[in-house]
This record gives sequence, structure tokens and C-alpha cells, in this order.
Amino acid sequence: MFSRLLVTLSFFLVKVIAAHEDLSFTYNGFSSANLSLDGVAEFTPNGLLRLTDIDTQRKGHAFYSNPVTFKNSMNTAAAIFSFSTTFVFAIRSEYPTLSGHGIALVISPTRGLPGTSPNHYLGLFNENNNGNENNHVVAVELDTIKSIDQFDDINNNHVGIDINGLKSEKVYTAGYYNDKNGEFKNLTLVSGKSMKVWVEYDGKKKQMNVTLAPSNIGKPRTPLLSLTRDLSSVVNNTMYVGFSASTGSVPTSHYILGWSFKINGQAQELVLSQLPKLPRMGDKKDRSLILTVGLTLICVIIISLAISGIIYLIKRKRKFEELVEDWEVDYGPQSQRLRIIKGVASGLLYLHEEWEQVVIHRDVKASNVLLDSEFNGRLGDFGLSRLCDHGRDPMLEKSGNFPLKSQAFVLLLNTVCAIWSTSAKKKHPPPPAVGSSLNHHDKDNYECKVEVEKLMVPVIWHVARRGSRRFSS
Ligand SMILES: *[C@@H]1O[C@H](CO)[C@@H](O)[C@H](O)[C@H]1NC(C)=O
Ligand SMILES: *[C@@H]1O[C@H](CO)[C@@H](O)[C@H](O)[C@H]1NC(C)=O
Ligand SMILES: *[C@@H]1O[C@H](CO)[C@@H](O)[C@H](O)[C@H]1NC(C)=O
Ligand SMILES: *[C@@H]1O[C@H](CO)[C@@H](O)[C@H](O)[C@H]1NC(C)=O
Repeated sequence: MFSRLLVTLSFFLVKVIAAHEDLSFTYNGFSSANLSLDGVAEFTPNGLLRLTDIDTQRKGHAFYSNPVTFKNSMNTAAAIFSFSTTFVFAIRSEYPTLSGHGIALVISPTRGLPGTSPNHYLGLFNENNNGNENNHVVAVELDTIKSIDQFDDINNNHVGIDINGLKSEKVYTAGYYNDKNGEFKNLTLVSGKSMKVWVEYDGKKKQMNVTLAPSNIGKPRTPLLSLTRDLSSVVNNTMYVGFSASTGSVPTSHYILGWSFKINGQAQELVLSQLPKLPRMGDKKDRSLILTVGLTLICVIIISLAISGIIYLIKRKRKFEELVEDWEVDYGPQSQRLRIIKGVASGLLYLHEEWEQVVIHRDVKASNVLLDSEFNGRLGDFGLSRLCDHGRDPMLEKSGNFPLKSQAFVLLLNTVCAIWSTSAKKKHPPPPAVGSSLNHHDKDNYECKVEVEKLMVPVIWHVARRGSRRFSS
């Protein structure tokens, strides 16, 4: 009777304790996770757990904050509880085929792993304690570098079960067995794509299975690794569970997207749609994005500079053009104009002096100046002209109906003629009539040579321009 009561009582007690110990947690993203981080580990704003980032020789740890009871504390020699855990990870390297050392799921007696090395020891051990059974560390490594010397790594893309050291108890190339045909499919850990890992330990069978798969497919039936080994000598009563990663020489982002864990039962499946999004694919792409943006920016700058340059040149040209009056553009350079005036002047000289009678044109104006193909000036339209005999003063004839403008024009034309003949007087004597008319009106101007030419010629042209289109044709 008493013993029956005792059995019932103890059964009840064990059940209560067991119920109390059956820890479980699920993180579909780490926005509200109670994890303790160290090293370079951090949560990204959108809830990713990033164990390491762009620096070299870095390690990062993330542990569930509270200790996990793996053994019935009333019986230290007892087998450890069954447990199950699943997580989604992604490894993003600076380089397409090269990566940092990898990630490990770790069960450790301490929260954080002080004194461990940020290189091929994956942040789990260092050169002094690697392989030491006092470590009491169980890990599942996702190893992306082949370290032959110490750990006999099979390749640079493998999954292993490690106990107290990095020389794996069980190891295989990363991949999974297809449920339909049993075919093995390789997976590249450093592909940057998210993948899922299941780790299950059966406390009765003393067997640990590790299964890997792309994150978008269900758990394959056949595990990648299966190790039969009693872990009760390794795993202490209370342990901490978490992750470790190290970069070594290659800056690498090691991400955990979600994690669930359960003692004595099946860890809850993660919900893919609830997991935080990884950064846009790959540092390589980010680089090419930077490159694209950079090149575009450079192109824009170059084009802007070119446009500014062109605008500047156009403005400069326009400014320069403002110095050249528009009538000058219309009517050619000074030398050409002088030539036309010379032509007209020599025509007048002929009419006034050289013909048998004196011809007074009386209508010398721009519209009556004709140009030949070589821009020689010719006087035309003698409709208003008068004849008189040599010896009479032609200046007397310009009274009456001479248009004032024409008279001014004649005067100016004569002035220039005079200048021309003065400057060329050694070759040709100055035309007497022109000379006399100039003397008659403005003696000083007769003395001005180049100055007058500079001033008067444009004035004549200005008058000429207003006079007639014919002049310019
Ligand atoms: C988070 O972990 C700390 C440290 O173990 C603990 O004190 C705290 O109660 C935990 N918070 C929650 C919300 O679980
Ligand atoms: C783990 O358990 C072993 C004995 O099983 C003990 O010697 C060791 O100190 C324990 N380690 C920790 C960190 O509690
Ligand atoms: C899978 O990876 C291993 C190790 O790198 C290699 O030997 C094997 O040929 C690969 N298989 C396929 C199908 O790519
Ligand atoms: C490990 O996988 C094998 C093969 O699928 C299975 O029979 C066994 O029950 C698994 N063990 C655990 C602990 O999940």
C-alpha cells in the first residue's frame, strides 16, 4: 500500500519535473528574441541574426539567454533528454566562391565561448583546447573552408558533427537525399541562398541525425548525417544552446533567419513566409549595383560637364558676337567694305573729272550701289543725274532736291575716298573733286586717316544697310 503510494507519488513528481524541463522556443526572425550576443554578432533592423559581417578575423556568438536543462538534475548519470532543433541560415561572402569559415550550432557549458579563435576554429575552440574532452561542447558545423592539417576536412563545403573539437565525428558534403529517388543533391553553403538544418537527438537510441535542405522544401526523409553515440558524458546537466561563426581571412556575413528548439519533442517547424528577408542577393551584386550606380553617376557628371562646357562656349561666342555688330555680320569685313567704297569713289571720280562732261549723279545712295560677283562697287541709276561742263563748280549743283541722306552719304563716301587716296597717294593721286569737297566741308577730317576710316566706314555701311536690300544682294 505504502510502496504503491510512493511509486504513484514519484511518478507524479517526475512528470511535474519533466513538464517543467520541457523547454521549447521558436523564433521566426529575431525581432523579439531573448538571445545574448557577443563578438560581432548583432540583430539587423529587420530581425536577421547576423553572426559576422564584413570584417576579417571576427567571430560572433548568439546564445539562448537561459540555460537549458539536458538531464534530470536528480540523476546526473542519467542519459540526456531527447532534443530537436531546426534553423534557417544563409552565408553571404564578399567573393563568389570564397567564404569565411562557417557556422556551427553549439551546445556548450558556458554562454558565449570566451578565448576561442575567430578563424578555422569557428569561434568554438582555440589551438590549445581543440579536442579536449573537458570542453563539453557538441556542435554541428557548416564548414566552408577545407582545413586539412588539423581537422582532416573533406572539402570546403561540408557538414559535420563535432564533439569537443573540430575533427568531426561524422562528416559529409553539404547536400540532401531526394525523397523520390534517393539521389544525392549537392548544396553550396556559400551560395548565399537560405538553407534549413534539422538536428535531432534521440536520448533512448543515443543517436543524432543532421539533415540539410534548401529552405523552400520540406525535411528530407534521409538525414545527411547520423551518429550513434551517447552524449551523456559530454553534455552537462544544464547547457547553453546557440550559434557561433568566424570569418577568418574572408569577410563573410553569416546569417540565421529563424530558429526553433525543443527538449523532449519535435521542434516547431519554422514558417518561411514569416522569416526576415535577406539583403538583396550577394555582396557581388551589391558591388555591381555600386558599380552601376557609380558609372551612371560618372556618366551624368561627364554629360553635365559637357553640356555646361557647350553652354559656356555658346555664351562666350554670343558675347563675342555682341562685339561684332550685326550689320557687320551682314555686310562683311572692313576690307571688303572699303573695296566697295573705293569702287564707287573711283566711279564718281570718273564721272566728275574724266568724262568729257561733268556728270553729277545727285542720287548717290546705298540702293544705287551695285555689286559685281567680286564685291566691287558700281554706281547705278542715273535718273536724277545732271550734266554740266568742266570748269563749273559741281558743288553748286547739289542744292535743291538732293536728299539730305544722300548728301551725307556722298560726304562720307568722299571722306573715305580721300582717306583711301591719301593712304595710297604715292600710287594714285587723290581725286581732285573729292579732295576739294572734303576741304570745303571738313578740313580736319582730311588729316585723320585710319581713325576716320574706322569711324566712318561703319557709319556709311549703316546708312547703306538702311538704304537697300539690293546693296547686299
Ligand atoms: C531574457 O534573458 C534574461 C537573462 O537570462 C532573463 O533574465 C530574462 O528574464 C529573459 N527575458 C525574457 C523575456 O525571457
Ligand atoms: C560538466 O560536467 C562535468 C562532469 O560530468 C564536470 O566535470 C564539469 O565541470 C562540468 N562543466 C561545467 C561547465 O559545469
Ligand atoms: C557534389 O560535391 C562533391 C564534393 O565537392 C563532388 O565530388 C560531386 O561531384 C558533386 N556532385 C554533383 C552532382 O555535383
Ligand atoms: C535518424 O534517421 C534514421 C533514418 O531515417 C531514422 O531511422 C532515425 O529514427 C533517425 N533518428 C533520429 C534521432 O531522428
